[in-house]
Amino acid sequence: MKKRNASTRPTIDITRREFIATASASLATTALIGQGGRKSLADDRHRPRFHLMPPSAWMNDPNGPLYWKGRYHMFYQYSPVVSIMGPKYWGHAVSTDLVHWSNLGIALAPSPDGPDKNGCWSGSAVINDGVPTFVYTGVTWSAPGEEPERARGLVPERQMVAVAADPNDVNLMKWIKVPENPVLAAPPVSMKVVGWRDPAPWKEGDTWYMVIGSGQVGKGGMALLYSSKDLLKWKYLHPLAVAESEPGVDDARRPWLSMWECPDFFFLSGKPVLLVARGNVYLTGTYSDHKFQQTSRGQIDYGSTAYAQKTTKDDKGRRIWWAWIHEKRSTEAQASAGWAGVMSLPKLLTLRSDGRLAVEPVPELTALRRREKRISNHKIVPNDPLLLKGFESDCAEIEAEIELGDSHQAGVCIRSTADGSEQTLVGYDRDSQKLFCDTSSSSTDPQTQGLRPPVVGRGVESGALQIEKPELLRLRIYIDASVIEIFANGTVSLTDRVYPASPSSLGIGLFAKGGTAHLRSLTLWELAPISNDRLTSGAERFRV
Ligand code: FRU
Repeated sequence: MKKRNASTRPTIDITRREFIATASASLATTALIGQGGRKSLADDRHRPRFHLMPPSAWMNDPNGPLYWKGRYHMFYQYSPVVSIMGPKYWGHAVSTDLVHWSNLGIALAPSPDGPDKNGCWSGSAVINDGVPTFVYTGVTWSAPGEEPERARGLVPERQMVAVAADPNDVNLMKWIKVPENPVLAAPPVSMKVVGWRDPAPWKEGDTWYMVIGSGQVGKGGMALLYSSKDLLKWKYLHPLAVAESEPGVDDARRPWLSMWECPDFFFLSGKPVLLVARGNVYLTGTYSDHKFQQTSRGQIDYGSTAYAQKTTKDDKGRRIWWAWIHEKRSTEAQASAGWAGVMSLPKLLTLRSDGRLAVEPVPELTALRRREKRISNHKIVPNDPLLLKGFESDCAEIEAEIELGDSHQAGVCIRSTADGSEQTLVGYDRDSQKLFCDTSSSSTDPQTQGLRPPVVGRGVESGALQIEKPELLRLRIYIDASVIEIFANGTVSLTDRVYPASPSSLGIGLFAKGGTAHLRSLTLWELAPISNDRLTSGAERFRV
């Protein structure tokens, strides 16, 4: 199974038998959806209403966010079976405003007997001489024969290219794989890599550069750098960057722990930034002679449920960030729901004056705001979670400003029953100076607890947040059924998942611990769903 280690990175470590077992369990799920399951999907109260996702089944990594001819396109890893090990296709959705999405179906499918016969894995979408182009990893995965090859440093991964059949089609419906495929057939000779995938190109002058995620046992992740004039003929240059120190990477039994998945490299206000999937880490530093030297590191999202981050630059020159939000309930619960995986909201990345990155929701999202409720000047008394009368929703945005006073912890309580038996706490812990989301009591459903990897269940997720004096916590929280996206003080984000057992876990309130805090103001906006059926229509376009 693909496993998630303590540092939040999913890894693959599967036997042939497990592979077959997972695939057949998942095929049973597909049959279930086929038997008129659409209504149950649309009625599923855990299914989001303003996040992008396919009509059913499985989504993972954002692959090619792309702005083209006035439209935002999102290509993503899609599988017709609810399983991380299912065969991977590229799903496709389009939007004119970054907020409302239409599912367009499958853009890219494995070719039988082709270098991507076992899956079209992650990659990127770029514009090459006016032609939208995919660069992605094809897999020829064959588990039984694989071990000796892996020992020699060979991986069943190839780099592939596909081009838009008609660049004038604003919807980019048809894609053609180039005859030169695979454009890269193997990693550099003599390098024993544990993986070689997720290409991400960018252009400097008339030359394309591209990083491919890779790594070596005992050494850890690296991003290998290639160059090309045409995206077809590539030359290997050197590692763009190598992990500085990664505890635990010398576990040779699990070589997948030793690689960087989904690298993404770009310049933000002239400063080079390298993203890697694990931990939603970003590295900043210097870039000369096409070598990146890391000087600092941070995390764009503190939630273990956000993974495989990917950015794009839009027509306004903004750097927009996306990630796959995976589930936090048992694989059985995912299979019986008939869907798993959600695309994050688009987030805007900017460079702060101290050289760190700031992350905020894109301003376009305010278009979803409807009915508004506001409360101001309220004392938050310790150990007394206070539900606000008339403030209830699971499809909403909250903006709150809390003076921390002499409290040790303070924040906002969401998805709460009237008696607090189910509730999720979003707040700030002053002693550790951390933003946190506490889902320990978010659900009484056993399917959210004691889970087997790769799924992590309920608990506390947190990350560093420095708040200048006078200490004012500024929260923006998006609640979309089971998806919670939190932004704090205009700088950091934390994504989490909750699956309350009670349909009445809708309450919103305040909490303080160890002292008294003060609410300056809290505004709740009901948000408008982006479709009237939780994006469940159009399943026929995803038929494989
Ligand atoms: C990250 C990842 C990528 C791979 C893809 C397959 O989640 O493992 O490295 O290309 O998913 O779906």
